[in-house]
Amino acid sequence: MKFFLDTAKVEEIRAATELGICDGVTTNPTLIMKSGRSQEEVVKEIAQIVRGPVSVEVIAEDAPGMVKEAEEFSAWASNIVIKVPMTKEGMKAVRILSEKGIKTNVTLVFSATQALIAAKAGATYISPFVGRLDDVSSDGMELIEQIMDILDNYEFETELIVASVRDPIHVVEAARLGAHIATIPAGVLEKMWNHPLTDKGIAQFLEDYEKSKKE
Ligand code: E4P
Repeated sequence: MKFFLDTAKVEEIRAATELGICDGVTTNPTLIMKSGRSQEEVVKEIAQIVRGPVSVEVIAEDAPGMVKEAEEFSAWASNIVIKVPMTKEGMKAVRILSEKGIKTNVTLVFSATQALIAAKAGATYISPFVGRLDDVSSDGMELIEQIMDILDNYEFETELIVASVRDPIHVVEAARLGAHIATIPAGVLEKMWNHPLTDKGIAQFLEDYEKSKKE
C-alpha cells in the first residue's frame, strides 16, 4: 500500500519524505490556498522533493480547457498527475489525456458508478472521498469495498486512492480492503505513529537501564 501526503505544505512533505513514508502527494485548490504560495511555484518544489506522483487539479470546466491546463502543468515536472473532476467534460478530458500518455487522477468521486465510468475513461487513479461521505451519514469505506470489487472483477489498471481521510482508522480499513493508496493529511499521519504504551515502554526501559548501571 502506498501513502501519499494530502498537502501542499513543503515542510510536511519533507518531514514525511525523510521518514521514507511519502510515496506521492495530492493537492487541490484548497490545499494550495492553505500553503500561501502560488500553485506553480509550490508544485514545482514539491515535484522535486518527491519522486512519486504529484497531483495538481485543473480549474477549467470544459474538456478543451482542462486539456490545455493539463499540458501546461505536465511541463512542470515528469511526475505531475492531472487531477480532473468527475464530470462529463472531465471524462472527455481524461480520455484525451490518456491517449496523450498524461496521467490523471479523477477527483470528487462519491459513487461506484462514477468510479466505473472514470476507470473506463482510462483514469490512472480515482479518488473516492470517504470523509465527506461519512459527513453526510453515508459509509465511505463501504464505497471503497464496492470500487475495489469492481476494479478486481475487470482487471482495470486504474488505482484507487482513498481520499478525504480523517483518521487512522480510515487508513487501517483502506489497507484491509486492499486499496492501492491512501492520501493522508500530515496530522493523521502523525497520529499513526503514536501509541501511549510505546512511550510508556521506552520510559520504563530507560529507567531500568539507569538502575542496572548503578547496581
Ligand atoms: C485529495 O485528493 C482530496 O482533495 C482531499 O483528500 C479532500 O479532503 P477533504 O475532504 O478533507 O477536503
